Amino acid sequence: MRDKTRLLFVCLGNICRSPAAEGVMKAKAAAAGRSDEFEIDSAGIGGWHVGQLPDSRMRRRGSLRGYRFDSRARQFGRDDFARFHHIYVMDEENYRAVMSMATDEGDRRKVELLSDYLTAHAAPTIPDPYYGTEHDFDLALDLIEDACDGLLRRLP
Ligand code: 4NP
Repeated sequence: MRDKTRLLFVCLGNICRSPAAEGVMKAKAAAAGRSDEFEIDSAGIGGWHVGQLPDSRMRRRGSLRGYRFDSRARQFGRDDFARFHHIYVMDEENYRAVMSMATDEGDRRKVELLSDYLTAHAAPTIPDPYYGTEHDFDLALDLIEDACDGLLRRLP
């Protein structure tokens, strides 16, 4: 069997968007019978929430859609460029932070905006819901589900 394709989702705190993307992508890969093809993880630019479960609001909004988000937050590091084939960031701020840690062109090529894989929605980024309302968490999930569908279709 070929090596697994290793995917990393990155946001600012690793408690709202990226753990949701990790959980959604794992669920979609499983539903497509493709779990064995991927290793899927998430990380945050900042270290404030390391070790924590995802934000209770995101866990709740996710559970209403049948997801269980129960990863523990960790901080993104330079080593992640070697560990992962693809790094999907949520917004331009994440993009700049991750790119600033890249050491060569090979690293830089791995970094993409998750929103580039949207098909049903048009949005430049996956906006940060942390200071928002339930609606903002639902919007983030709508975009993440759409982009993960697109991503799964595009990954060989
Ligand atoms: P996330 O949301 O990047 O989607 O996990 C945030 C979580 C925490 C903070 C900011 C954004 N914070 O400032 O603590």
